[in-house]
Amino acid sequence: MFDFLRILYTRDQIADQVHRLGKEIDRDYAGREILLVCVLKGSFLFFADLVRSISRPMVMDFVRMASYGCDTISSGVVEMRKDLEFSVTDRDVIIVEDIVDTGYTLQTLYHRLLDRKPRSLKVCTLLDKRSDRRVQIEADYVGLSLDEGFVVGYGLDHQEKYRELPDLYVLEGSPCVDKERPI
Ligand code: PRP
Repeated sequence: MFDFLRILYTRDQIADQVHRLGKEIDRDYAGREILLVCVLKGSFLFFADLVRSISRPMVMDFVRMASYGCDTISSGVVEMRKDLEFSVTDRDVIIVEDIVDTGYTLQTLYHRLLDRKPRSLKVCTLLDKRSDRRVQIEADYVGLSLDEGFVVGYGLDHQEKYRELPDLYVLEGSPCVDKERPI
């Protein structure tokens, strides 16, 4: 079965929102150094653009989170496959996500980092999909909202495909197949 991609947000619309988010973060973090945490893999393009739209001093680190379950719906079982290299203790930390969907990934990472006692901990997400939320967690900075559909492109994948696309698309025509093991 072939996937069909329907355009959701163009690269120009994404760039406008990334620019806005950078300005908001600049405004909120005056005089402070930020530790920006990229949640791999999906956030890598958003992260690369976001850090270049922020003018405050910063350091960067990377985590790899992954959830088991169906292709298009998280099971709620989230594992950290790569931890941060820096300590977050007493730092001003922003988690950078590509999408908050059920919220399981963000909730797991947020509480892990909170246990390490950062000075502050906020969340910036490119996409906020509240209709699928299963746990109560909200991002502090939101680029774009969506109600339904499985989104690919600009870092987001379906079975590891489409991450390289410069625009965001809704994937149509792919069945949801349960997986016993993560990719
Ligand atoms: C995706 C996405 C988010 C998470 C959001 O990651 O990048 O991290 O799902 O979904 P949730 O709110 O339902 O937990 P995924 O586990 O697919 O790994 P990837 O980033 O490597 O694509």
